[in-house]
Amino acid sequence: MKKVTKAVFPVGGMGTRFLPATKSIPKELLPIIDKPLIQYAVEEAIEAGIETLIFITSASKHAISDHFDPMPDLRAKFLSQKKYDLVEKLDTLPLEVKRVFIPQGQPLGLGHAVLQAESMIEDDEMFAVILADDFIQADINPLRRLIDIAEVNGRATISVEAVEESRISSYGVIAPGHWQDDFAAIDEIVEKPEVALAPSNFGVIGRYVLPQSVFAVLSQTQMDDNQEIQLTDALKQLININGLQAVKLAGQRFDCGSQEGFVLANLHVAMQDKKLNTQIKAYLSDC
Ligand code: G1P
Repeated sequence: MKKVTKAVFPVGGMGTRFLPATKSIPKELLPIIDKPLIQYAVEEAIEAGIETLIFITSASKHAISDHFDPMPDLRAKFLSQKKYDLVEKLDTLPLEVKRVFIPQGQPLGLGHAVLQAESMIEDDEMFAVILADDFIQADINPLRRLIDIAEVNGRATISVEAVEESRISSYGVIAPGHWQDDFAAIDEIVEKPEVALAPSNFGVIGRYVLPQSVFAVLSQTQMDDNQEIQLTDALKQLININGLQAVKLAGQRFDCGSQEGFVLANLHVAMQDKKLNTQIKAYLSDC
């Protein structure tokens, strides 16, 4: 089987929970302190061995392409001033990494976004999907772990974690079979179930490694009540075709699609910085 070298980043979402900020700034460019969410996601992908980044965009998301463009004039200026730390911050994408931008056309859901990447993926190829608003801090690269598992048997492999009851209905939820360490085959998957109907408390995180065969399934997947094609509904079909497997996330995940997740992610990263840590503690002790 071919190595997994391509990653799809669906970045066409509207980011309504962050309006008015997302009127002009794509939600994936919201920063955790000084680095945008999409930059973290791209760095995770590159570290995991990804060589081609496929962004599925909407018409108003030129800023994401701009973010990864080189800035030769400013770079030269910083170099001449020997400001090497700033040069490093400007270099948002290694030159050898390919990037492709595909317009989604209409905002018809995550499954529809992934389907737009079909022409980029060869028949026998698996590919990654990364949702940048799931911000992850982990010692082991979460995407690399998924790829290692998926490359063994070619089955669709997704990242999950136990989520609080109050958040269950915000995620895809799986029924895992028997866990072997951090790994299990999946018996069932449901998109955003009510707590009472959830098959477990394991919610899907935005990291997937999928076989090319998912496109045929996605193209047959019906829209849901919100007129969206859900990736989860296609994954449910894959269970019977080729199997679907889960890997428990070893790390901390912040759902930056929600305001509380975004604030906590910023706080988490800030607390790792000595100066900010001291300032935040001093501030909180006065609150
Ligand atoms: C999407 C998926 C959902 C998954 C989640 C992870 O939902 O549809 O199954 O659990 O990402 O973040 P969204 O966040 O787009 O509502």
